[in-house]
Amino acid sequence: MFGAFRAPARTYLDYAASAPLRPVAKARIVELLDLFGNPSSIHAEGQAARMELDQSRRVIADLLGVRAERVVFTSGGTEANNLCLRGVMQASSGKRLLVSAIEHDCVRNTGKALGAEEIPVDNGGLVRLDWLREELARGDVGLVSVMHANNENGILQPIEAVAAMCKAVGVPFHTDAVQTVGHVPVHVDELGADLLTFTAHKFGGPRGVGVVVLKPELEMLASITGGAQERNRRAGTENLAAIGGAAVALEEAVANMNAERTVARAFNATVCAAAEGIGLRVVGKDSPRVEHVAQVITPKNGSDVVIGMDLKGVAISQGSACGSGKVKESHVLRAMGYSAEEATQAVRLSWGWATTEGDIQAGVNALNAVL
Ligand SMILES: Cc1ncc(COP(=O)(O)O)c(C=O)c1O
Repeated sequence: MFGAFRAPARTYLDYAASAPLRPVAKARIVELLDLFGNPSSIHAEGQAARMELDQSRRVIADLLGVRAERVVFTSGGTEANNLCLRGVMQASSGKRLLVSAIEHDCVRNTGKALGAEEIPVDNGGLVRLDWLREELARGDVGLVSVMHANNENGILQPIEAVAAMCKAVGVPFHTDAVQTVGHVPVHVDELGADLLTFTAHKFGGPRGVGVVVLKPELEMLASITGGAQERNRRAGTENLAAIGGAAVALEEAVANMNAERTVARAFNATVCAAAEGIGLRVVGKDSPRVEHVAQVITPKNGSDVVIGMDLKGVAISQGSACGSGKVKESHVLRAMGYSAEEATQAVRLSWGWATTEGDIQAGVNALNAVL
């Protein structure tokens, strides 16, 4: 029997990997666990579950400025991104896939499996629009995928510009908005994305809920086949309780967004000033960035710094959670022109809805001590 996880006097600065569950989300999940009916069943128990599922879908759709039928639930961000890339490419008969060089591994490796070519980025970490324009002009591109904000350094991509270029030549455009939804305003049609993906656990919802928002007319084959759930886009009984938790977490994140961003911006300034004070470089210092992430290049191996910080009670990461635990060179930093050595020396600090000034101070003190 496992007890609740209660680490003594820990400081958690790894929200970009996974954020603590918001209490409203936890309460909602617990409440919905009693609704055992299958949302696809026609009896009263099934319909009660269906009503809640529809309600969660409506809440999420409203918050993103789209109609509810455009929302498809998956098991997480990884599955959502797989569905978009594989599903659109399978329906696009032999066309080329262009994926930015700085994507999360779930897009990058899926892209590689599909023979994607990489859209390069400049030294500031921004995709090269000139390169993309030339490639789109060849008329043989089936899908473009550029993330909204990078998960290692928080750099925001010029998504509206990319979307407009794709739209002008009729090429579908996907953006992985895992690090922006719930953190900065995201209105799908204003961004211009044909497919936008995110995951609930980055903004205080539960792990295991992903979302694809797509244009209804978009040709995309399902990857998980079976029943007709999610309008035939993704088979399998929906995870009703977790989806409900995701909806209320997003509701709270959006309602509190201005206040949470103001605090996060101040924390970012404190962390960056402290890091620079001990001679560290902040990645993407002069690029537009989300407020809740800062990546710094240290003089040590990143994993040694992460372990040193952990021993001092502070949880941070090397970049992407999926890559942590290995001495891994950051493909993002390499794409930005950092050396192979520098690309192993970065660490990421990230914060969110429950972070206090005391947490940030503890993080800065530990960083000072470890370095
Ligand atoms: C940018 C980005 N995309 C996708 C994912 C994967 O999401 P999930 O953990 O829900 O599979 C992550 C998680 O680290 C991420 O940061």
